[in-house]
Amino acid sequence: MKVVSKISELKNQIGEWKAAKYSIGFCPTMGSLHAGHMDLVEASKKETDKTILSIFVNPTQFNDPKDFHQYPVNTEIDLMLCESKGVDLVFLPEVTTMYPETKTPIQLSIPALQKNLCGRTRPGHFEGVLQIVSKLFHLTEPNKTFFGLKDYQQFRVISAMVENLNFPLEVIGVPTRREEDGLAMSSRNVRLSNKERETASLIPRMFALAKKTIHSGERDINLWKEILRDFLLTGDSLRIDYLEVVDPIGLEPKDKLEGEVLLAIAVFVGDVRLIDNQIIQIPN
Ligand code: PAF
Repeated sequence: MKVVSKISELKNQIGEWKAAKYSIGFCPTMGSLHAGHMDLVEASKKETDKTILSIFVNPTQFNDPKDFHQYPVNTEIDLMLCESKGVDLVFLPEVTTMYPETKTPIQLSIPALQKNLCGRTRPGHFEGVLQIVSKLFHLTEPNKTFFGLKDYQQFRVISAMVENLNFPLEVIGVPTRREEDGLAMSSRNVRLSNKERETASLIPRMFALAKKTIHSGERDINLWKEILRDFLLTGDSLRIDYLEVVDPIGLEPKDKLEGEVLLAIAVFVGDVRLIDNQIIQIPN
């Protein structure tokens, strides 16, 4: 496995692979890797000849500087994990490599997909994600790229950017990997104390309750959201950032429970922000 931090080294390797007609799979990450990231690697290895994984904690997507500074970093373990899973190249750039000083920064956004959910409560977040991901796509020239569906809005926003700007690549969403109690795996989970981890287990239980109440006939969307909010708020030190029901494609808020809906939440447990979502089919 190659580990490179300079753009020239990355480009040299990609040039060789392109000349040999290898297809390239790309898994962008911010490190502190877990089994969910390894699912991206596994999907990439199945579908392409060479897999690149990037590790870069991108400062421009953190609207809260404290959150950026507290983001867990575990590079040594990350590299061992990548090696054991057969990643071909890890790109590990410095901040100054990705963001050399410029007086004319670019800004990308997909306003229609960013006005709700995390786009509403984390202003500037998706502009930062699109900035780094578009740069990484240009640098890694992948045929296919893999994103976890836990960050469902991110997946939609990036897919829309690729479509809008004709990036010659396919964006593939990989199902969320969960802990035994159903909590979505996240690099942030390591920051939870034992007590907070217990509280966090309310999240998968809330999704189970959401499905159960729908199957017992609940169709009043406001009442449904109220029941789910009240359930979450039984947790110690849990604060709801949002709990929304939107259409899974356009991410517009739903005012009726019908068809397919995306139930998406962001909560703070202590000061750790966790997100999760599920697409739920509402029976007729
Ligand atoms: O999902 C993430 O880890 C990040 O948002 C990404 C896509 C690597 C961009 O920094």
